[in-house]
Amino acid sequence: MRPLIAPSVLASDFANLQSEVEMLNTSQADWLHIDIMDGRFVPNISFGFPVMQAIKKHAQKPMDVHLMIVEPELYIEQFRAAGADVISVHIEACNHLHRTIQQIKATGAKAGVAVNPHTSVSLLDDIIADLDLVCLMSVNPGFGGQKFIENTYRKTEALKNLILQRNSQALIEIDGGVNQQNARALLDSGADVLVAGSFVFSAQDPIATIANLKNVLK
Ligand code: DX5
Ligand code: ZN
Repeated sequence: MRPLIAPSVLASDFANLQSEVEMLNTSQADWLHIDIMDGRFVPNISFGFPVMQAIKKHAQKPMDVHLMIVEPELYIEQFRAAGADVISVHIEACNHLHRTIQQIKATGAKAGVAVNPHTSVSLLDDIIADLDLVCLMSVNPGFGGQKFIENTYRKTEALKNLILQRNSQALIEIDGGVNQQNARALLDSGADVLVAGSFVFSAQDPIATIANLKNVLK
């Protein structure tokens, strides 16, 4: 099966956001990955609602919103209103994850959980059946352009087993340091969605780079 490709807008040229989004519209990208950082959960600040709304105005594909923020439950409805189609919260940021997942679903968005590199996927055992997506961080969140953490393959396999065991529909998304070199092995390990930021946007030809990722199994 071909993976879903979710280019991370974080790596795009913000001064030319409209043309970057239009480029993604014409590409084989499936989703737009939107990284929201609050300077508290992660040591960086990205952008918020006005920028998201500006992206939404031009985007012809679903917006996959990755919340790297503390107390995400305070803003779920606002992210949905700003155009989020998939909303992922970090397991490390949620005291009442089950409640927050139901809150996301109640807005009509798909619900995801993101997992830091040090967090075991076994912690998802009792929530996996409720999830539409698990975002496995293959770098420490906060910055684009970091080096891929190799342990992610093992984690992807463990998560795939858990999903099958629990009869869950959740997709496995890999986020951080994804490129043409590791994409194939990630799919072999069980990944369904590949996020790619710097690999796509620093390429000479982002449209061809997205197509190559999409067709990496061919
Ligand atoms: C990291 C973000 C990622 C990032 C990926 O905190 O969650 O989505 O934008 O960028 P690359 O592909 O450059 O690692
Ligand atoms: Zn992300």
